Amino acid sequence: MTEKARAKAICVVGAQWGDEGKGKVVDYLAQSFDYTARYAGGHNAGHTVIFNNHKYILQLIPSGILRPEKKAVIGAGTVVDPAALVAELENLKRSGIEVRGRLFLSDRAHLIFPYHREMDKAAESARGAAAIGTTSRGIGPAYEDKMARRGIRVCDLFDAAGFKEKLQRVIAEKNAISRATYGHPLETAGIYDQYMELAAHIHGLVTDTGVLLNRALDNGESVLFEGAQGTMLDIDHGTYPYVTSSNATSGGVATGLGVAPTRICGVVGVTKAYTTRVGSGPFPTEMPDLDAQALRERGKEFGAVTGRPRRCGWLDLVVLKFAKMLSGIDSLVVTKMDVYDTQPEIKVCTGYKFKGKTLDNMPADVETLMQVEPVYVTLPGWQKPTPGIRDVKELPEAARNYLNFISEQLQVEIGMISTGPERDATIVPRGTKLASWL
Ligand code: GDP
Ligand code: IMO
Ligand code: MG
Repeated sequence: MTEKARAKAICVVGAQWGDEGKGKVVDYLAQSFDYTARYAGGHNAGHTVIFNNHKYILQLIPSGILRPEKKAVIGAGTVVDPAALVAELENLKRSGIEVRGRLFLSDRAHLIFPYHREMDKAAESARGAAAIGTTSRGIGPAYEDKMARRGIRVCDLFDAAGFKEKLQRVIAEKNAISRATYGHPLETAGIYDQYMELAAHIHGLVTDTGVLLNRALDNGESVLFEGAQGTMLDIDHGTYPYVTSSNATSGGVATGLGVAPTRICGVVGVTKAYTTRVGSGPFPTEMPDLDAQALRERGKEFGAVTGRPRRCGWLDLVVLKFAKMLSGIDSLVVTKMDVYDTQPEIKVCTGYKFKGKTLDNMPADVETLMQVEPVYVTLPGWQKPTPGIRDVKELPEAARNYLNFISEQLQVEIGMISTGPERDATIVPRGTKLASWL
């Protein structure tokens, strides 16, 4: 049998705790791909893309949709709130983005219901001081139902009688749990009618997206897999329990889209020049309040979805090494370099110490991670503006040294550097793997 050339299939993952700038990076790369496909998460994500003086915030719809003619897929591994999806579609329409015929939603994706949101909020308030700081979108409870095999999926919406029966069964079960746990039943009136109406809105998008993507790849079309959240929020490998409920790492591509791991040709990791995290949980390189506040203002570090202030800290190479290992990162994108333009000195964490000993790997338990002492190297800042620079050679020397330091420590190429939120504030050094994928 003659071997067919492998179609280009590249994955973009967040290498930290989310909000690394994946939306901007995916939008940039999407020009060179036929499809962009989301494999995990839901509308807990907020991906910001800015071009032509317009700001778009995408939550569930892949950022590649902003490129005219390109196709986008929401895969089986995602959880879909149809009301939020319809609102997102309307937003795009208002901005003049037409998705008809080029946006596809998996018939196997699980649905988020209003009771999932209620349970998310109730569980968070029950946790008290140990709250995770979720986005309150019902993500966790929807994935819980999926794993407990009582979830209701997109395909179920199109069999009205079957849908009603499944919904009644789930509601009865949820109400019993809610009464026992929280002392009151859930608000469930009107869900059936509302979801039937929403089903009519999204019907035209629904298809078997696993077959769609595999056929596209068989025909030599290219696919960009768009990660949501970040490595440290991964349900299996992140800072559990302060994580989301899906696999944000590149392994999620195979299960979340029904595209075999052997199809993936390369992985792009996205990191900020520093680190942020929203919500609770360990954050070894978190800065003291005043420094964090200054960086937050400069970097506009407020959640795209919830508006919450993001916690800020120094770059953590232990996190990035872990991300490289877990997702097989071939090329690293460093975003928000411009936010460091006025920083006199830059600290970088190169290791952790715990009870006086150096840790070789990321500890499994958050109790240890909360107590580790970061080992820092201090590098000089460049104190010159970087926006507008298009060639890596024109970056200030200290900025190049910072990037080289990261690259050497991690033994990974720097495939792209971002110096502003706009599409064109982007540097792509020549001769890299990433450049060869464009
Ligand atoms: P995502 O969730 O990974 O897509 O990231 P978000 O969109 O939630 O957060 C990243 C934020 O940084 C957004 O507001 C972007 O517009 C912005 N951004 C992305 N790259 C850069 C950059 O290089 N410089 C600056 N100043 N902002 C950036
Ligand atoms: P993008 O794709 C940053 C965080 C929440 C919370 C934890 C669990 O924009 O990078 P959830 O609602 O998922 O149950 O919340 O995960 N979180 C994110 N943080 N960026 C995201 O997505 C996130 N999605 C979830 O803040 O700490
Ligand atoms: Mg975000």
